[in-house]
Amino acid sequence: QTTALVAGAIGKDGYRHYMEKELHEHPLVIGQTLQRLVDPASRTVVLPDMPFDLASVPRAVITACGSAFYAGMIGRYWLEDIARLPVDIDVASEMRYRNPPLTSGSLGVLVSQSGETADTLAALRSLREKAVHILSILNVEQSTMARESAVVLGTVAGPEISVASTKAFTAQLTVLACLTIATARARGTLDTAGEEALVAALLDLPSRAADVFTSGDAIRRMARVVAEARDVLYLGRGSMFPVAMEGALKLKEISYIHAEAYAAGEMKHGPISLIDRTVPIVASAPYTPLFDKTLSNLQEAKARGGRLLVFTDTKGADRVSAIAEDMVVLPHVHDFVAPILQTIPVQMLAYEVAVLKGTDVDQPRNLAKSVTVE
Ligand code: G6P
Repeated sequence: QTTALVAGAIGKDGYRHYMEKELHEHPLVIGQTLQRLVDPASRTVVLPDMPFDLASVPRAVITACGSAFYAGMIGRYWLEDIARLPVDIDVASEMRYRNPPLTSGSLGVLVSQSGETADTLAALRSLREKAVHILSILNVEQSTMARESAVVLGTVAGPEISVASTKAFTAQLTVLACLTIATARARGTLDTAGEEALVAALLDLPSRAADVFTSGDAIRRMARVVAEARDVLYLGRGSMFPVAMEGALKLKEISYIHAEAYAAGEMKHGPISLIDRTVPIVASAPYTPLFDKTLSNLQEAKARGGRLLVFTDTKGADRVSAIAEDMVVLPHVHDFVAPILQTIPVQMLAYEVAVLKGTDVDQPRNLAKSVTVE
């Protein structure tokens, strides 16, 4: 309860912007969110009672807007891989008009910080009409979406004041990770030892997330390169692809630099023609099973004159240092939680670039915290 109050306190607490303060709350909100969903003694996930059985949902449909959508994309990788559950995902503004054929009893997973986003709410209603069970992952638990959902899993991120989402994103991922574990257990795709290992990786995250802030100097060094650019390419593979998308969105939102995220393996089908010294490449490449593949994509970019700025981890550092112009080395964590940890420095990079550019970080032009119109 005390910690919940700390994350909820309004005021910049000596930070330059709310965004900087909220970035520093990542470790705390991951921990607070886990406290609600994990029993540390037995290392098991404990979700609230649900009016349906996770074991019998035939498929899941995930939908959201903005950063919450990228969290949902990472959720898809997890649910497919670990729970072996078929997942469809789309942004809510498309999902609400797509009319996908759905078996009743499917699971609709809605992700929203505010619980008020008009497109996400409309998608919720259209899924409910198809007799889909509605499970919403919300930061504001007294919101319209909360009232219309069968189950609400709260992200305990406290109020997010800065328009650009930061801590709510890692809290959404934490909830999606727990939902994945519970679904996998229910479907029999994860045994007790497997669950313990994934829960242990989650419980380790708040401390590992706190370690990220020791990389502030390296991130500010990268920010000086990015701030000079007109266009930036973000790359990642697997669950690092949505991390790259989140990094690119954040950079666009608050620094007004054009950024595009690509699945690293898709780069050769188009954006490789853009690469030269004026387009820095920001890559998320921790040592996961896709590390080698990602590195060979980065080598292709370097061979064409690309300047590589790479987020990696202690196990990937040696090989990344051989090709990167600069890198940020995070602690090595379990593959499962790597996208949660790797999100923090890409958001920090966008923040530092915006500070260098002197933009109105907490109130970027043309953007609203909660978009309640279509
Ligand atoms: C706005 C915000 C984004 C946010 C999106 C979805 O566009 O600027 O930061 O990701 O809405 O908001 P929600 O409250 O549904 O998560």
